Amino acid sequence: MLILGIETSCDETSVALLEHTGGNRLEIRANLIASQIEAHQLFGGVVPEIASRKHLEAVTPLFRLLKEETGLEWRDLDLIGVTSGPGLSGALLVGIAAGKALSLASRVPLRAVNHIAGHISSTFLEKPDLGFPMLCLVVSGGHSDLVLVRDFGQFERLGRTRDDAVGEGFDKVARAIGLPLPGGPNLERAARTIEKPTLRFTPSNLEPSFDFSFSGLKTAATQGFAKGNSSREEVAAAFQIAAIKQLAKQTGRAIEEFQPKTLGLCGGVAANGALRARMSSMCAEASIEFVVPEPVLCTDNAAMIGAAAFFDARRTSFPVFSVEDLSFEARSVWPVGSPENRREREA
Ligand code: KG4
Ligand code: ZN
Repeated sequence: MLILGIETSCDETSVALLEHTGGNRLEIRANLIASQIEAHQLFGGVVPEIASRKHLEAVTPLFRLLKEETGLEWRDLDLIGVTSGPGLSGALLVGIAAGKALSLASRVPLRAVNHIAGHISSTFLEKPDLGFPMLCLVVSGGHSDLVLVRDFGQFERLGRTRDDAVGEGFDKVARAIGLPLPGGPNLERAARTIEKPTLRFTPSNLEPSFDFSFSGLKTAATQGFAKGNSSREEVAAAFQIAAIKQLAKQTGRAIEEFQPKTLGLCGGVAANGALRARMSSMCAEASIEFVVPEPVLCTDNAAMIGAAAFFDARRTSFPVFSVEDLSFEARSVWPVGSPENRREREA
């Protein structure tokens, strides 16, 4: 079985081909990613209009390259999965239009994929036989979610950010202290130069919920730097410590309450070495398995979208091609675990 994934929710255009090789195993035949980061660098953040245009430029050449690299013929596909939200509406529409056109022309069934479900599914690519339930911490530029995964494709959101996502915090603080894009990795690099910062920020406490809040921390770090008494490395290190402290505290509380067999860490911020180390030692203490995908599967990519489409289709029933299934829209807001299209939502 061959699955095509398409991802255009933010600033990465990506197409991927997966092959189901039995059981829960999906082999990545190709995972092509065209980053737009240079186009946004001048503006210090992602500009939605530019993002849409860049997706439009990149998507057809990427399809061509995918066919060249894998020898794929569209008619050989069994399933197409495309991100339909959450994300930037204009950016999402490019991938959705491409997915619908391919589906219609090749009579291959199409599934709308939730981007967060995609990030979570990157753990399935990393470890096909992981134990459920899995608690998954999804940390990216747009989201900070704690999700209980009872089985493949079955998600229950326990907590979310009430304001900024943690990656957004990393990016905005990086910008405020004069670091270029990509903010997160550059802030981590700056933080690494300081062993123990004297500066200290207090993480938000949203107990008894499992929610997060990073906007107060972002403001404290930005203002702390503006006062001029601390170096950018000090501020970076203090911000990173406080952000990880909050993520670890809420995750630790959820581990205690829900007793998962596995902890998954995914989304772009999962590439952060200090966060990976903290989560790994927490899992060792709780004697549970820790799964974190390799960095290229942590940041936005289409392999995770193809994986989410496959497991969702397998859980419900494998779809046959139907024009009706092409009626979904781009959804800028779409909490993971909620129904995929209007018909389902209204039922
Ligand atoms: O998942 P992703 O590629 O896109 C979204 O869905 O948002 O995540 C991108 C986010 C950005 O905010 C980026 O700064 C952050 O992940 N990020 C990091 C690191 N690498 C990427 N944040 C902290 N440390 C890193 N090493
Ligand atoms: Zn993402």
